[in-house]
Amino acid sequence: LQTLPPIQLAEKYFQIFPEEMDPLWQNPCHDKRHKDIWSKEKTCDRLPKFLVIGPQKTGTTALHSFLTLHPAITSNFPSPVTFEEIQFFNGPNYHSGIDWYMDFFPFPSNVSTDFMFEKSANYFDTDMVPKRTAALLPSTKIIALLINPADRAYSWYQHQRAHQDPVAINHTFHEVVTAGPSASKELLVLQNHSLKPGTYAVHLEHWLMHYQPRQLHIVDGTLLRSNPALVMDGIQRFLGVTPIFNYTQALVFDEGKGFWCQRLEGGRPKCLGKSKGRKYPEMTPETRAFLTEYYREHNLELLRLLNRLGQPLPSWLREELQSSS
Ligand code: A3P
Repeated sequence: LQTLPPIQLAEKYFQIFPEEMDPLWQNPCHDKRHKDIWSKEKTCDRLPKFLVIGPQKTGTTALHSFLTLHPAITSNFPSPVTFEEIQFFNGPNYHSGIDWYMDFFPFPSNVSTDFMFEKSANYFDTDMVPKRTAALLPSTKIIALLINPADRAYSWYQHQRAHQDPVAINHTFHEVVTAGPSASKELLVLQNHSLKPGTYAVHLEHWLMHYQPRQLHIVDGTLLRSNPALVMDGIQRFLGVTPIFNYTQALVFDEGKGFWCQRLEGGRPKCLGKSKGRKYPEMTPETRAFLTEYYREHNLELLRLLNRLGQPLPSWLREELQSSS
């Protein structure tokens, strides 16, 4: 029997099985063979109990900041590159491995009562993510936030303008969402980022291929904005976290910002930064009508999905379907 030194052997192996070059990380403690070779210095407890998956521009930063006020809930350490988001499951970071991922989490002081989580808002609509999260975190709970997809698209467009994206600066929102297949590649990329995350039912079905419906909590992002204490009570019940934290006391509405903020000692508000809750002109009625039509079938799919799951319908979804019927 002939063999090769480890590196050459690996190279040979991946020449024969190239499809296996993309790893699928699993929890080492879920398989005895893996656990036996897992270092004694390591633990499998530095993993999140729940994920906030996005999508982007639905209020994910506000939700992240409200969650971290809870005494039993802890978020990951910030990333020097992507700040509060780790963005492990959706891109090249995945190839850095599970030790890299676990290093973002503290050692829990009590595994059963500590709730660690991470929020990466582009997990929601990145196709390979549910399969990857389910392999490593099969019993994690998943929170998705949904607002009217037309408003989400507009918020994303405004976000790109604020970041000086020349395509967003040089085109109106109407031009972006109505661009046809012969438009420039850059314009179609911006259109895709604006529109694709909002086909909510398609993405949720992906998650439901890998998780049980009871593991998924769909939050009405419009309600999070208008009545965060109510939404946070629902999230606490879904997570089963104790003690029940009183968000009515912990949050305060800031008239100047026009949003709910953290109430500091003495009652002063601490709000999210300027990039969250931007001021921009309303979407034109013409573009809104276009997007209502564009998303009609997708919103109907979402309605059927939520009915099937027995989850409440967000008020924006009822209104949107009434206005398009
Ligand atoms: P706009 O800036 O377009 O108004 P994300 O954090 O996922 O990027 O979402 C940003 C959006 O969160 C903001 O979009 C804003 O409307 C919404 N939001 C909801 N609650 C908020 C809060 N308490 N403070 C600031 N923004 C909030």
